[in-house]
Amino acid sequence: MTQPQTNASRPLQGKFALVTGGSRGIGRGIVLKLAERGAAVAINYIKDEAAARDTLAKVRAHGAEGFVVRADVARPEEWASMAVQVREQFGALDIFVSNALGNLLGFMSPPMQVTMAQWDESFQCQSRAFFVGVREMASLLRERGRIVNLSYWPGSHLGGFLPYFAMGTNKAAQEAMCRYFALALAPRGITVNAVCAGITDDSIVNSLPKEAQEAMFAWLRSGWSPMGRPTLPADLGGAVAALCSEDAGWITGQTIVVDGGASLMSPEVPLDFQRP
Ligand SMILES: NC(=O)c1ccc[n+]([C@@H]2O[C@H](COP(=O)([O-])OP(=O)(O)OC[C@H]3O[C@@H](n4cnc5c(N)ncnc54)[C@H](OP(=O)(O)O)[C@@H]3O)[C@@H](O)[C@H]2O)c1
Repeated sequence: MTQPQTNASRPLQGKFALVTGGSRGIGRGIVLKLAERGAAVAINYIKDEAAARDTLAKVRAHGAEGFVVRADVARPEEWASMAVQVREQFGALDIFVSNALGNLLGFMSPPMQVTMAQWDESFQCQSRAFFVGVREMASLLRERGRIVNLSYWPGSHLGGFLPYFAMGTNKAAQEAMCRYFALALAPRGITVNAVCAGITDDSIVNSLPKEAQEAMFAWLRSGWSPMGRPTLPADLGGAVAALCSEDAGWITGQTIVVDGGASLMSPEVPLDFQRP
C-alpha cells in the first residue's frame, strides 16, 4: 500500500541544495536522497551532461525541483559562475555538499613517484576546491545551513593504499578544514561535517579494471565488510540527509565514517577471530 506523502516524510521541503559531482556515483545517491526528502537540488557535473540530466529526471520523479550546472570545481572562477546560477535559480542555499571527485585515476601514484603536476591537480580538485567552494557558497547559505564534505577514512588516517597518497592527504586537509569552518560558521547555526564513504559500488571503483573491482568487492564480501556488502551510494545519501535534518543541528566539525563498520576491523588479527 502506498502511503500519502506527509510533511514528516519530506522534512527537507523548501530547502535548496547544491551537490558537486551530483550526476553520478555517490553524488547521485546523495542528490536522490535529498530530493526524496523534498529538497530542490542543483546537480553539478563536469563532462557527462546526459548523466546529470538523467539524475535530474529522477529528482523530478521524486516530486522535487532542480537544475543541472556544469562547472569544474578545480577552477575558482567556475565556482563564482556556479554561485551566480544557484542565486538566479534558487535565490539562496541551505545545503552544500562537496563531493566531486576530479580525475583520481590521473593522480594515483605512490608518495615517492607522484609528480608535481599530479600533486597540483589533486590539490586543485580537492582541498582548494573545498576551500573555494565553502567561501563562495557561504554567502548564499541561510541560517542553520549544512555543509558536508565527502572523504575516505583509510585514505586520510592510514597509509597502506600507497597510490592514494595525493588524494588521501588532501582528504585529511579537508577534514581539518571542516573543523575550522565549523567554528567560523557556528554563529550562523551552519554545521560543517565530513562524511567518509566506505568502498562504494556504482562509483569510481567501477571504473577500475574488472579484476581490481572484483577483487575489492570480493574482499569486502569475504567478511572485511561486517555487514557483508560494499557501501552503496544510497547509504551515503541517507547519512547526508540525516546530517541535513533539523535534529542534526548540534553535530558540527565531525568526521563521520559511513562504511557499515569496515574501518573497525583490525588488520593485525585474522579475519576468523573477528567474526561474530
Ligand atoms: N567511490 C568510493 O568508494 C569512495 C570512497 C570514499 C570517498 N569517496 C569520495 O566520494 C566522492 C564521489 O566519488 P565517486 O566514487 O562517486 O565518483 P564518480 O562516480 O567517479 O563520480 C564523480 C562525479 O564528480 C564529477 N566530477 C569529476 N570531476 C569534476 C570536476 N573537476 N568538477 C566538477 N565535477 C566533477 C563527475 O561529473 P561527470 O559525470 O560530468 O564526469 C561525477 O558527477 C569523491 O569525493 C570521493 O573521493 C568515494
